[in-house]
Amino acid sequence: MIQTVPTRPFDGQKPGTSGLRKKVSVFRQPNYSENFIQSVFDVAKAAKGSTLVIGGDGRFHNRTVIQQAIRMAAANGYGEVLVGQGGILSTPAASHVIRKFGASGGLILSASHNPGGPDADFGIKYNIANGGPAPETVTEAIYARTREINRWMTVDTPDIDLDTLGTVEVGGMAVKVIDPVADYASLMESLFDFAAIRAAVADGFTMAFDAMSAVTGPYAIEILENRLGFPKGTVRSGVPLEDFGGHHPDPNMVHAKALFDLMMGPDAPDFGAASDGDGDRNLIIGKGRFITPSDSLAMLAANAHLAPGYAGGLKGIARSMPTSAAADRVADAMGVPCHETPTGWKFFGNLLDAGMATICGEESAGTGSDHVREKDGLWAVLLWLNILAVRGVSADTLAREHWARFGRNYYARHDYEGIETACADALMAELKTNLAPLPGAAFGPLTVATADSFSYTDPVDGSVSTNQGIRILFEGGSRVVFRLSGTGTEGATLRVYLERFEPADGDLDEETSAMLADLIAAADRIAGIARHTGRSAPDVVT
Ligand code: G1P
Ligand code: ZN
Repeated sequence: MIQTVPTRPFDGQKPGTSGLRKKVSVFRQPNYSENFIQSVFDVAKAAKGSTLVIGGDGRFHNRTVIQQAIRMAAANGYGEVLVGQGGILSTPAASHVIRKFGASGGLILSASHNPGGPDADFGIKYNIANGGPAPETVTEAIYARTREINRWMTVDTPDIDLDTLGTVEVGGMAVKVIDPVADYASLMESLFDFAAIRAAVADGFTMAFDAMSAVTGPYAIEILENRLGFPKGTVRSGVPLEDFGGHHPDPNMVHAKALFDLMMGPDAPDFGAASDGDGDRNLIIGKGRFITPSDSLAMLAANAHLAPGYAGGLKGIARSMPTSAAADRVADAMGVPCHETPTGWKFFGNLLDAGMATICGEESAGTGSDHVREKDGLWAVLLWLNILAVRGVSADTLAREHWARFGRNYYARHDYEGIETACADALMAELKTNLAPLPGAAFGPLTVATADSFSYTDPVDGSVSTNQGIRILFEGGSRVVFRLSGTGTEGATLRVYLERFEPADGDLDEETSAMLADLIAAADRIAGIARHTGRSAPDVVT
């Protein structure tokens, strides 16, 4: 029996680059999650009997929202829901399941790398039939719908058992509880040379994978330990916890410090990697060698042909604007295009669908390919393993050889977190009005070549995205980029992206912080960071 529940709109249910992301306490308000999910269904207008995929990263509140979403899907005419056992589906696995089973879309419940627990964050994201995040036209329509919604629909049924595989019926709709790992693991096995990796492991190749008590634990144990033969214990913190053990499941040098220290110390295994809350980000560290995500994209692109899934070469590369230009040089050498898109994975979807790019990546530790329509943490780890196994070199050697051929883009991102929104907006506004006189201006040894506010015209559908960050390009290929985060849940976060290019015959083995010192000083003078924010140093450097 379908029930129609009267409701009224909430303020600010605007999905950002990664869906709607708020504190758990916000999602727990009566009607709040229901309003958003109903707005998604009202906009998606899936044909009657369609399939919907539902899964999340296992964080606190995951199960509650999944039960609500299942009942609402039944009331809204879906014919079938596929839900991961225990409510678990990593973001890339959800993308794959949507594609594999021809679903009309999916709800992914995650706040990615943000902390979890009753006082922490939660999120809901809608992915479309291609398996990727809904494009801006859809998220804008969902937002518009949340502002006029006056009812949501549900059926009055008890919670289903999410922990038992099999099919149950909810209000006339089939709910299939599926193994969250199996389909994804087979996909990985089809793309990579598992035999070569197994042989390297048998030869003594070692690794440490930190699942950060988040969703990738079960995936990593099945693939790395069970299928590739790495010893038990290779996967650390492999059991997903509702609060990620109290940590930020963000695989960077700050939050994955234990792994970082291990990899820089005397007992380092050959290779270290980690993934984030929902499994779409990756961290790659060789023995004694941190690989920046921008470099990782370039190095994977340059060697992807060594994996069976990419043996035919790449159609193109895509990177988000703030990601370093290291990948551009690889694309140039291969004679394929390199697309520069705004921040956020959704911009890659059209390029992948149109066959204009095969590999894409972001400086924020997101790398992926046309195998799904999300970035994919374990995929990046497995491509690295495949390449190292086939080439028989260490990650450090691979990096050095890469730089000696293409040059090196020294890179860092400085984040100023929790600043007052008004201060952050004022900084960006002032920066934008002061761009015109910058070209030709000198800041220490650096001379500005061009300065602009980045806009993107999608080459596939012609849609235009403006105000995607301020780019200051210096002569010689170095660069500073300023933009405000679209995923924070408290105040504003200013991100300053710093990049210094050293050609192949330049200084390739220096400390990044020293190499970026002039750029850091220039960034502060250009944007007045200290003056606007009152901060003398960033909160996080990655
Ligand atoms: C951040 C990253 C961006 C990524 C997004 C979702 O967004 O910078 O690259 O796509 O998270 O994982 P931001 O907070 O910068 O808007
Ligand atoms: Zn994530």
